[in-house]
This record gives sequence, structure tokens and C-alpha cells, in this order.
Amino acid sequence: MTIKKKYIAIAGIGLMITAGVMVTAGVAANIAVDTQPGAQYKNLKVLPKNISSKDLSKIMVDDFGDGLGVSCNFCHAKENNSDRLDYASDAKPEKEMARSMMRMTLKLNKKFFHMPHPLIGSASMTITCVTCHNGLPHPGNE
Ligand code: HEC
Ligand code: HEC
Repeated sequence: MTIKKKYIAIAGIGLMITAGVMVTAGVAANIAVDTQPGAQYKNLKVLPKNISSKDLSKIMVDDFGDGLGVSCNFCHAKENNSDRLDYASDAKPEKEMARSMMRMTLKLNKKFFHMPHPLIGSASMTITCVTCHNGLPHPGNE
């Protein structure tokens, strides 16, 4: 390898390391935001109030959206004069119905499957939304 090529190779590794550090720092910053306790969400009545945005998103997308085969707007109402969803609003009855289903699901796991501390979204739950819904909003009724 000529000196010039060697220099380029080393410079390349330097760049890779710099990029790596930047990515790592970015991930660390995200995790710090994710795990910060407190009032990130305004209107949680069943889920833990200090839930991370990562855990909340996973529940909303995998358990609720995919689990029932619906989009976010099945449960979440629109903001006034806008197409954006107001996630904290309880204007749609489906959202309260979902809360009631969450309580039922927790109770089924606790009472009938002897889980002392069931949590919506936890992989250890025996009964989940999907157990009954299996991708349908009205199971047994379609
Ligand atoms: C089957 C109904 C249902 C679907 C579908 C659903 N959600 Fe939710 N969402 C809820 C319920 C119920 C709560 C409140 C949970 C509680 O009270 O603990 C909630 C809470 C939230 C919150 C917290 C709002 C706050 O500040 O209190 C966000 C953000 C959210 N959902 C986003 C989404 C997104 C994004 C989607 C689509 C990917 C989605 N949801 C799909 C039922 C649903
Ligand atoms: C033990 C079975 C079972 C489990 C577990 C279950 N559901 Fe349901 N759910 C049903 C049935 C059955 C219906 C349909 C009732 C009807 O059509 O009258 C329903 C209806 C609903 C509706 C009402 C839809 C509407 O149009 O009003 C929502 C929302 C809902 N479920 C959300 C959930 C969520 C979220 C979970 C998980 C936290 C869940 N369910 C877990 C059986 C279940």
C-alpha cells in the first residue's frame, strides 16, 4: 500500500468512528427521552402514566391497530378544524370501550391465568387483544 492509500484508509476509519459516535450519542439521547418519567401523555387511565413512548407506540401499533385490524382513527378523534388526531381526547366511544377491554384483558390474565402483575403490551400475557380480535374490530360478529 502506498503512503497515500494508507492515509485515505485511516481517514476513512476516522470518519466511520466519528459517525459511529454520533449515532451512539443520538440513540443515547433518544433512550434518555424515552425512559424519562413524568407527564409525557395527558390522559392515561389504564396504562402506566410514566410509560415510555417506545412502549406506548408498540401497544398502539401492534396490539391495538394490527390486533383489531384498524387505524388510529378508529379510537382517536380528530382535533377541531384539522385532520390531525387528538390522542388525549376521549370524544370517540371506541376509546373508552378499548379501556374497558384493557381492564377485562388484565383481569382475565390475573384471575384465570394467575399472573400477579399483568401489563398490557407485555409478551408474557396469556390473553391479549389478539387472542380474541385476531385482526378484526368485532370478533364473532362480522
Ligand atoms: C382500539 C383503540 C385504539 C387504537 C386503534 C389506537 N389507540 Fe391510542 N389509545 C387508546 C386508548 C384506550 C388510550 C388511553 C389508554 C389509557 O387510558 O391508559 C390511547 C392513548 C394513546 C396516546 C396517549 C395520549 C395521551 O396523551 O394521553 C397516544 C399518543 C396514542 N394513543 C396514539 C395512538 C396511535 C399513534 C395509534 C395508531 C397507530 C393509536 N393510538 C391507535 C386506544 C387506541
Ligand atoms: C375475551 C375476548 C376479548 C379480548 C381479550 C379483547 N376483546 Fe375487544 N371485543 C371482543 C368482542 C367479542 C367484541 C365485539 C363486541 C360486539 O361486537 O358487540 C369486542 C369489541 C371491542 C371494541 C369495540 C369496537 C366497536 O366498534 O365498538 C374495541 C374498541 C375493542 N374490543 C378493543 C379491544 C382491545 C384494545 C383489547 C385488548 C386490550 C381487546 N379488545 C381485548 C372480545 C375481546
